[in-house]
Amino acid sequence: MFNSNASYEATIAWNQLSGENPTLHFDTVKPSEFNFSHSVSIETSNKAKSMNTHFARLTNLKPDQKYYFSIKDSEGYSIIYHFSTVPDVPTERLSFIAGGDSRDLSETRRKGNKMVAKLKPHAVLFNGDFTGLDTPKQWVEWFDDWEHSIAEDGRVTPLVVTRGNHELTNHSIRNLFNVPHKRIYYDVQFGGTLLNIISLNSEIYKFGRQKLFLRNSLKTHDHFNWQIPQYHRPIRAHVAHKKEMNTEYRNFVPLFEKHKNVRLCLENDSHTCKVTWPIIQSEGFGSEEGFIRNDSTGIVYAGEGCWGAPLRAANDSKCWTRNAEAVNQVNWIFVDQSKIEVRTILYENVAEVSDLSEKTRFDMPDGIRLWTPSNGAVVTILPRR
Ligand SMILES: [Fe+2]
Repeated sequence: MFNSNASYEATIAWNQLSGENPTLHFDTVKPSEFNFSHSVSIETSNKAKSMNTHFARLTNLKPDQKYYFSIKDSEGYSIIYHFSTVPDVPTERLSFIAGGDSRDLSETRRKGNKMVAKLKPHAVLFNGDFTGLDTPKQWVEWFDDWEHSIAEDGRVTPLVVTRGNHELTNHSIRNLFNVPHKRIYYDVQFGGTLLNIISLNSEIYKFGRQKLFLRNSLKTHDHFNWQIPQYHRPIRAHVAHKKEMNTEYRNFVPLFEKHKNVRLCLENDSHTCKVTWPIIQSEGFGSEEGFIRNDSTGIVYAGEGCWGAPLRAANDSKCWTRNAEAVNQVNWIFVDQSKIEVRTILYENVAEVSDLSEKTRFDMPDGIRLWTPSNGAVVTILPRR
């Protein structure tokens, strides 16, 4: 997981099935005989959800660096995995896969996970509703399936997670993902001053301490090129029976709109697919459900989930909806100083998609199927002037 600054810190988590005294060994070069130069002991462990979760926290890492690691215990070493930290400069383009709602359909979500292994993004933004019932059995299955996101060469993609309504308590997320705040709101920085990802919690009060956190995070990172909030429940769902999240509308949106560098929000929960035009809060003529299209100052809201949950019809489009359709998908997001590009990947044909590498991660691989609705497959978001 990336839980603070993605250039310098990361948490490695695993389920310790047997063996004693685990430690994490790591290095910037792949060792030939497990002769790693660095090791770190376990920061915390817990028995939540019937697992034996261990966290090792790596700090003072080098930016833009591949780290090889293995867990050593009384029974020996694990296989060698690796992950990469993010450049500490805003001039390098970044790649993300964003999505959520992976509950229930294991076979489908595994296809999305395999897409992560193939596209090698800098990180995955996972926006809640991991499992259906938040039970130990389902979490074990979820993590088994998540192993499909590990590439054949052992590359692991760090996660930045939020809590969904199917995570019954904040503890579920905190115990499994080492989230740095007990109420599951926190921010993670990518690429020096390029990007601040703000993870919010749609399952608790939106005012009070969470609102204060949001206000402070937005203000602290106001000089960044971009800030992208992610929160599970959409403010204006595109599935009719889902309720409007007026608590978010009232408490979050006015703060988002105060900051020029917020031009994209990620939402999930509905099990469908939508991307809006840039919109701002308005009750005026031409508005609908409290928003109106405004290409020069508006925010694009993208997502609504479907990484393995049962699909629902996109039957609640607004006049400011760019496109919506019930398709299994994840967002594939490229961020650089000049623009954000959002593509939507129909991941189910992952077996036909060729592998990218960290060097070719911005190419379109053979076989990739992009959602290509009437208004086009690529949503380009430019800085607000
Ligand atoms: Fe949900």
